Amino acid sequence: MDAEHDARWLVQRLREEGDLRPPYRLKRERQWVAEATTLRDDEGRILAYTERRKHLFATEITTVVVDPTHRGKGLSHDLMLAAVSANQDRPLILFTRSKALEKAVARLGFVQRRPPNPLTLLSVGVRALMRCLRMITIGDVRKFWTQFAHLRAFRCWVLSDESAD
Ligand SMILES: CC(C)(COP(=O)(O)OP(=O)(O)OC[C@H]1O[C@@H](n2cnc3c(N)ncnc32)[C@H](O)[C@@H]1OP(=O)(O)O)[C@@H](O)C(=O)NCCC(=O)NCCS
Repeated sequence: MDAEHDARWLVQRLREEGDLRPPYRLKRERQWVAEATTLRDDEGRILAYTERRKHLFATEITTVVVDPTHRGKGLSHDLMLAAVSANQDRPLILFTRSKALEKAVARLGFVQRRPPNPLTLLSVGVRALMRCLRMITIGDVRKFWTQFAHLRAFRCWVLSDESAD
């Protein structure tokens, strides 16, 4: 599959899923896909996808999504294992309200807690604010409302060197 196809797959997922970030233009999404961790089928089609963001004193695993036709088959476990293996940075953090994703990261040693450094939360907060502003600017009210309404349901999961011990 080519980069254009990958980017279109990603934009489609970002449009459908209320908990994911809003999409950018295809050109920018091609760059995201190039740097992302993906699982693919034999023809090269994306089955599962996740990105990372650098924050102050932590790296966030974010935009975790499995193709709708392949959900419920355990792919989130393989995807999170691939993402953790590809990122040697610690701590790794992840925010989610998905019980399935919580199960996958807990199995890898993530624990539900605040990030070890308060400056990480500041960095995450600034990024979240920018994301909200972008959702409002592009008129994606549904996504904004979904995320705002469920804000308190999101939990932070952390994989640090200590949690691996
Ligand atoms: C969340 C998501 C990535 C999970 O991927 P998946 O491959 O379908 O999940 P899996 O099949 O690997 O399931 C993982 C585990 O969660 C369990 N599970 C699934 N749904 C569950 C639920 N509602 N409650 C509790 N456990 C659940 C599964 O049984 C499995 O447990 P097991 O391995 O011990 O049997 C996928 O549903 C998705 O892409 N959702 C849309 C995007 C999204 O919301 N991403 C999260 C952004 S924060």
